[in-house]
Amino acid sequence: MNVVGSQRPLAPLYRQDERFDISAAGLLEWYRSDCFRRAAAFYAGYPERSIFADNGRALMHHLIVMLRPERLLEIGTMYAGTTEVLARAVWEAGRGHVETLDPYGADRCPALIAEFLPELRERVTYRPRSSAIHLDQVIAGGGFYDFVLIDGSHELEFAAFDLECSARVMRPNGIIVLDNIEQVGPRFATTQFLERHPEWIDVAGVVGKVDANRPLARPTPSFPDCFNFLLQAPPYYLVGGVPRSFGNQPVDGGEVAGIELDLAAPADGVLHVQAIVRTFGVIPAEELSETAELPLRAGPGPVKVPLPRPVRSRISDRDGLDRRVEITIAFTNGALKLKAPPTFYPVRPR
Ligand SMILES: C[S@@+](CC[C@H](N)C(=O)[O-])C[C@H]1O[C@@H](n2cnc3c(N)ncnc32)[C@H](O)[C@@H]1O
Repeated sequence: MNVVGSQRPLAPLYRQDERFDISAAGLLEWYRSDCFRRAAAFYAGYPERSIFADNGRALMHHLIVMLRPERLLEIGTMYAGTTEVLARAVWEAGRGHVETLDPYGADRCPALIAEFLPELRERVTYRPRSSAIHLDQVIAGGGFYDFVLIDGSHELEFAAFDLECSARVMRPNGIIVLDNIEQVGPRFATTQFLERHPEWIDVAGVVGKVDANRPLARPTPSFPDCFNFLLQAPPYYLVGGVPRSFGNQPVDGGEVAGIELDLAAPADGVLHVQAIVRTFGVIPAEELSETAELPLRAGPGPVKVPLPRPVRSRISDRDGLDRRVEITIAFTNGALKLKAPPTFYPVRPR
């Protein structure tokens, strides 16, 4: 039995010169273009297994072709219908890989994805796990995404968790799409998220217009005739008074003498640094840490920040050790904007 149904052939939907900004004006320009009509016609009623509005599918394809993300995540595979859309878009973009999660899909998703066209199948990895388990592992490993489609559990607490954790691992300028914003959970997760993170961009300027006095009224989506809100990460990593960890990364040694920052803008304030070196593979495991509060006036560009007291493991290097470094930073009396996560020395990530 062919569980996927007939698949449309692979063909680009865009001409080389068709470029549109990811902004309210850019989306409007695209909506009025032949290019949109082509994409919308292709995705009208297709793939049948996709539980997404027709325009929403065209919009996913558009955003991916414009952004050319390297790493994509879909939370909530269901019948892998929208997964096929994401795979077609990364195929057309010429780069990118889609991971898709569904803790309840192990019996159906692998078979559905196995029937994709080979050029699409090779661009997709299905994981039979919940967003909580998956994002925990991504955060711990210092991983990242450039595009996340949040379409798992639509309960407010779950949607809020998916959004907060996706934002945590999002690279600068990355896009998060929420589906089913006609439902309370994804809608309120988005409005509350933007209240906590005003540096994030409400791409179409519609989330800010949700009427707090009409909590059950249907909101205006980020694009006509779909059920999506679009959020874009700021063009830098923002660090403020709430300490931000950059994962617990496997490393090749046991000493951190300092960190390196790549400033996206001049910084003037107080940098708070915590460096933790963990060593597993010995009993008892070892955990050493140092914190420092350092005035920082520098940038833009790279800046080296030596720790007043280096963190040095007392366990000498040998086979079988699992060493990890976690750097957490905060910034007060100003804003810290980074081009990349902090790095550390002399140990290096493995
Ligand atoms: C609305 S459907 C997804 C539709 C699919 N993205 C599409 O557009 O065709 C929601 C899916 O999310 C899955 N799900 C529920 N809780 C989840 C979680 N915590 N993490 C990942 N997926 C979850 C459900 O099993 C269900 O298949």
